[in-house]
Amino acid sequence: MYGKVALGSPRDPERVLVALPPVTGGTGHYAAAVTSGDVYTHGHHATVVNQHAQRTAEDCAAFARHVIEPDARILDVGCGPASITVGLARWASRGHVTGIEVGDDILATAKATVAEAEVGNVTLDKESVYELPYDDGSFDVAYAHQVLQHLSDPVAAIREMARVVRAGGWVAVRDSDYSTMRGYPASEGITRWRQVYRQVCRHNGAEPDAGRHLFSWFCRAGLAQVQMSASVWQFFTPTSRRNWGYSWAERSLKSSFAAQAVEYGYATAAELDDIAAAWRAWADTDDGYFHFIHSEALAQVA
Ligand SMILES: C[S@@+](CC[C@H](N)C(=O)[O-])C[C@H]1O[C@@H](n2cnc3c(N)ncnc32)[C@H](O)[C@@H]1O
Repeated sequence: MYGKVALGSPRDPERVLVALPPVTGGTGHYAAAVTSGDVYTHGHHATVVNQHAQRTAEDCAAFARHVIEPDARILDVGCGPASITVGLARWASRGHVTGIEVGDDILATAKATVAEAEVGNVTLDKESVYELPYDDGSFDVAYAHQVLQHLSDPVAAIREMARVVRAGGWVAVRDSDYSTMRGYPASEGITRWRQVYRQVCRHNGAEPDAGRHLFSWFCRAGLAQVQMSASVWQFFTPTSRRNWGYSWAERSLKSSFAAQAVEYGYATAAELDDIAAAWRAWADTDDGYFHFIHSEALAQVA
């Protein structure tokens, strides 16, 4: 039952996604602060945004591909640098994608991505998912990738996404689970990184292990017949290992996460140096391997 497909990103063709079959059940640093009062743990430092900009719809929205029609109206919540957004726009070539973001800098980056991709069916708005300015039923699909893990009230966010989707349309969310971020060889520094990251995220009122919560959050938001699937990111080729490891080394020194870790008292600057060194050492290990789970929730609006 398990499929194995190469990710669609031309920039990282060696990263591998393992898809698991879906199952249905149940009913600048502190620019990281978003309008709701939530704090976005990663922030929009270049070390973060450059990593996110390698993502594609083919990888990150594969679980929802079958519900996206060529004329679909799609809402991409927390679109980041919009590399996924432009892929959604190509799938919905006769439709439209509205990407929303909370910060001016990241919106400027998203606009540049859209211009470079030469897709004419994308609008980018500065809005928060908690208070969408769109009428009920405005979209066929509301999608969010790795956004709910950063919110203090993910259930309210899902409820608001469902409100702006028409009856019969879909809410589609994919989120990761930091507890599952494990690798070989064992590394004290990377174990410490996982601990500090999760502490900072929780300090910000957010849930770093969001993936395992999605089903419950969808049910609590009033969505029924939630289809759950899961997929795994793996890093083991020289290119993908260096990409992931060096990126986290930089992020552990320069991003909002690093600043918050020190400010909140979860790590010293010296410890962050050690964490960064551990990431680099892992990235340079010839047989190094790292993986983590994404959970994917898809539900039709009644
Ligand atoms: C980890 S990034 C994911 C970006 C993109 N979806 C991707 O996967 O490449 C999370 C994004 O959610 C945005 N975000 C955080 N809180 C938000 C909110 N209340 N409404 C909309 N977007 C939000 C952040 O600014 C950030 O760019």
